[in-house]
Amino acid sequence: MRRIYLDNAATTRLDPEVLEAMLPYLREEYGNASSVHSFGQRARAAVEEARVRVAELIGADPSEIIFTSGGTESDNLAIKGIADAYGHVGRHILTSQIEHPAVLESCRALERRGFEVTYLPVSSDGLVRVEDVREALRPDTILVSIMLANNEIGTIQPIREIAELLARVRAERRQPHPYLHTDAVQAVGKIPVWVRELGVDLLTFSAHKIHGPKGVGALYLRRGVRIVRQMDGGHHERDRRSGTENVPAIVGFGRAAELTRAQLDQRIPHMRALRDRLERGIEERIPFVHLNGHREHRVPHICNFSFQFVEGEALMIRLDLRGVAVSTGAACSSGSLEPSHVLLALGRPRDLVQGSVRFSLSKDTTPEEIEYVLKVLPEEVERLRAMSPQYLELTTARRG
Ligand SMILES: Cc1ncc(COP(=O)(O)O)c(C=O)c1O
Repeated sequence: MRRIYLDNAATTRLDPEVLEAMLPYLREEYGNASSVHSFGQRARAAVEEARVRVAELIGADPSEIIFTSGGTESDNLAIKGIADAYGHVGRHILTSQIEHPAVLESCRALERRGFEVTYLPVSSDGLVRVEDVREALRPDTILVSIMLANNEIGTIQPIREIAELLARVRAERRQPHPYLHTDAVQAVGKIPVWVRELGVDLLTFSAHKIHGPKGVGALYLRRGVRIVRQMDGGHHERDRRSGTENVPAIVGFGRAAELTRAQLDQRIPHMRALRDRLERGIEERIPFVHLNGHREHRVPHICNFSFQFVEGEALMIRLDLRGVAVSTGAACSSGSLEPSHVLLALGRPRDLVQGSVRFSLSKDTTPEEIEYVLKVLPEEVERLRAMSPQYLELTTARRG
């Protein structure tokens, strides 16, 4: 049976070239990057080379890159690290209702410690309004954390406009804060992401979403911004993240970043063309479908549809039996049967939230795979709808 992977927002296939780059550091180059001898020096050189490549991908200086265990840790480090460093000047944080749990739960943890958090609503297509950010800002706001691209619906937020607003506020108040953090896990490698153009102070990204290995990520921390480390121990990562560096994974991240940067101009139109083909095909072939998220302000690899009269979980399982891997909501919350907090925040009715499926593509997706999905998906939707009393009632009423 064919196996088609359309769950690239959950994770991506390790690029064979990335694996090749990692192998020596899993075999013979096993030194600890902090050791002074030649084994250690070679590991250190590899980590620093990777830091340069990772920094280049987002237009940062290598000294502004902190390696972490992934997007989740980077989000935690950014939010709690700023709260701990600047909690004495203010205790208010601003974020949105549709952030990844790594951001939302970090904020909730801070609320339990006496910080106040405002969770901004979004428009029906998933956009944060800059005006709402402006109105919610308080004199004691130390951090604004808004994601660059949403992991369920792909909507791209107006981060540059928010950064411009914060720059004006800082200038008026003659204060260095509020700082701006963005979770760019679903944006890096999918749209051009340049930290200086965006004007952010902290930015989270992760290797396994760009065909790198799992368990490694980075936090960009603009020079001059202070954070308090959350992992205590040795003096690794300039005292901002203790723990022996995961050298093979960091090397893999570096190579994945290098390939992503070199291929971005081809990857973007490739993913967009196939995603648009999938989207048009679904809308032409299947009635009662609703696209979730913004049609234009969106990363090129994600589309999320609600199929009326269908349970998303059931459709995901039926598609899996036909060899097609998709997801309902995000990987971290699938299986929980909790309705998506993102789709609820868009104001979608519950039946449409329950009937949603996310298709996410990558550079490896082929036109043949999309055509196969467009063949089996309408069959499976129809099969499930044939079991829905509301659907049968509606269609018999129409016919009669
Ligand atoms: C927007 C977003 N933030 C953070 C994460 C967490 O990243 P990681 O899996 O590297 O911990 C993900 C992963 O799904 C994500 O999509």
